Amino acid sequence: MWHRCMTALAALFVCSGAAAAQNLDSLLRQMTLEEKLGQLNLLSADGRASPQQLQLVRAGKLGGLFNVIGAENTTPVQRIAVTESRLKIPLLFGLDVIHGYRTIFPIPLGEASAFDPEAAEATARAAGLEAAAAGINWTYAPMVDIARDPRWGRIAEGSGEDPYLGSVLAAARVRGFQQSIFATVKHFAGYGAAEAGREYNETEISERTMREIYLPPFKAAIDAGVASLMTAFNSIAGVPASANAWLTDTVLRREWRFNGFVVSDWTSVAELMPHGIAGPPAEAGQRALTAGVDMDMMSSIYASDSMAALVRSGGGRIPMAVVDSAVMRILRAKQRLGLFRDPYRARAAPRAAESRALARRVGRESIVLLKNERNVLPLDPKTATIAVIGPLADNQLDPLGPWHTQGRAEDVVTVLQGIRARAAASQVVYAQGSGIDDTVTAGIGAAVAAAKRANVAILVLGERGEMSGEAASRASIGLPGVQQQLLEAVAATGTPVVLVLMNGRPLIFEWAAQHVPAIVETWFLGVEAGNATADVLFGDYNPSGRLPVTFPRALGQVPLYYNHRNTGRPMQPQNKFSSKYLDVSNDPRYPFGFGLSYTTFAYRELRLSTARARVSDTVTATVTIANTGAREGTEVVQLYVRDEVASVSRPVRELKAFQRVTLKPNESRTVTLRVAVKDLWFIGLDMKPVVEPGMFRVYVGPNSAEGLEASFECIP
Ligand code: NOJ
Repeated sequence: MWHRCMTALAALFVCSGAAAAQNLDSLLRQMTLEEKLGQLNLLSADGRASPQQLQLVRAGKLGGLFNVIGAENTTPVQRIAVTESRLKIPLLFGLDVIHGYRTIFPIPLGEASAFDPEAAEATARAAGLEAAAAGINWTYAPMVDIARDPRWGRIAEGSGEDPYLGSVLAAARVRGFQQSIFATVKHFAGYGAAEAGREYNETEISERTMREIYLPPFKAAIDAGVASLMTAFNSIAGVPASANAWLTDTVLRREWRFNGFVVSDWTSVAELMPHGIAGPPAEAGQRALTAGVDMDMMSSIYASDSMAALVRSGGGRIPMAVVDSAVMRILRAKQRLGLFRDPYRARAAPRAAESRALARRVGRESIVLLKNERNVLPLDPKTATIAVIGPLADNQLDPLGPWHTQGRAEDVVTVLQGIRARAAASQVVYAQGSGIDDTVTAGIGAAVAAAKRANVAILVLGERGEMSGEAASRASIGLPGVQQQLLEAVAATGTPVVLVLMNGRPLIFEWAAQHVPAIVETWFLGVEAGNATADVLFGDYNPSGRLPVTFPRALGQVPLYYNHRNTGRPMQPQNKFSSKYLDVSNDPRYPFGFGLSYTTFAYRELRLSTARARVSDTVTATVTIANTGAREGTEVVQLYVRDEVASVSRPVRELKAFQRVTLKPNESRTVTLRVAVKDLWFIGLDMKPVVEPGMFRVYVGPNSAEGLEASFECIP
């Protein structure tokens, strides 16, 4: 797989030919045990390498550093590595470039709403280029953890709940980053299944669910040639992911033939002690290294004297061959990256204006229109008076979202600024109304007064950027602070309200869903948040985003996801003894794949290419999509499949294909979507992937809850 993706990268990365591999063998032979363990050691700097870290570099006791910011800081450290250390092995310089380096793009969950792999590849490419110009050669992205629980704050960093969408976007992001820097697919695996949505919590995932739901995006990243993989903090049925030989050896290396290297997450090697599977640190190191974790991020255990002593003590607890294999994987990666030839990798930064234009384009594609009663939207830019209200309306920091690397608040166009720029002829009045999560209500009166004077009130509400991302689980996921009070007070004025949401997870906002005429989900869009939002609010861009994750009505429904199984007693409203709640419907507030447009689309004439197909066949679905409204618009046509009867109960629907289609008013087009029957596999009773003969129902529609239906039979 590696060579396939490398063809495009030949100019940037050096392939490891036989001669070069020979050199690495001889390099390995020259290394002392301490130097070998040093290559497996990864530390974080605080912007610049500390004097102690420079000493480790000189002594050949570091394989890489991360969080060294700027080429002016990476270059001198690299110079020490390649001129002052005994074996002159260059360093990796890592950074969490998650959704931009300086130019911040939408958070990954937001970007996933665009259902646009080309956009995801473009932003990853742009972020990688900016990072490369700043001396970074390795990012800790993409995060591909499937997340079914919106309490878990890291849902913001992934592509949502669906393994197919997650896989397509994982591959796209890997391709984008690896045009200039190495990518790391993370967190292997099951991190998103944290019990109760509580960060770092344990997980219980069956092997079937692991293979069908959580692992596919990792496999897709590996097939796209990802250079490295990061293990997760969580345990799976009692076995921590950072010492889980089934994951990092059996599946990753033996089944998938991954030939890159594996890095632990931050101190996850040391955390094997509190997990309770290791006594002293060297035992934790032994468990992680022998399970297949090559590089130790921040625990400083692999490079410790006690680890070296354990290797030297023999007896097979840490065989030298295991150390050598891990070291070779790191050396090979450095060679592929071209570091032996070009350790400094001086790169010119891409043009900032181009990156900003991309941020605006992808920003507006990421916006999801959730509700639009009485066509409140789009707004007329000549509206006499527009009130812009809310703690996120003129806020420059929070649109950057979590993990915004070198993003700066001063670069952000706020929603208020975007609206003012677009509606120059309108009187735009602004009131903050409240804070994001404090309890102060003093500003609500001024917000009500502003709304009363206006023809429309735009309320920009939601979360702080840091309320999602790492270590940001929430046990209640409504609007924080007194924002609900602010919303209700403004709505009570009778002025039509447009609710613009900014948040890093699905929120629960039942009152708004029932009482507010227009709701727009904007996630955290990055530096162009205000312009992208204004583009949608005024109809310069017709919204085309679709939810990559289910929005629940009530927290008690969580985990709630579209690709659930049917149960033996599927919900029947009149039947008490069916699978349901007494106090809330089973339906989500907004289903996976949902999003409105300023136009309407009709689906007609779904046809399958065949009524019978073999596993080796591809079934083609054609459907006619018509734009039945008055504006040009983009529909995301979605194809789902249900395996009706199988030896293992199958989900009621699974996304298998999608396509963005742009149509002018009255235009219609026949759209073709293909499904390879072999991709309809599941994990059978014998725990092996299988496609079983039988009937498959195909749904093609605008989201996971609607669509036309057709069937075909898979024959042996
Ligand atoms: C911990 C996070 O879980 C991981 O995603 C990140 O890459 C590392 N810290 C490094 O910052």
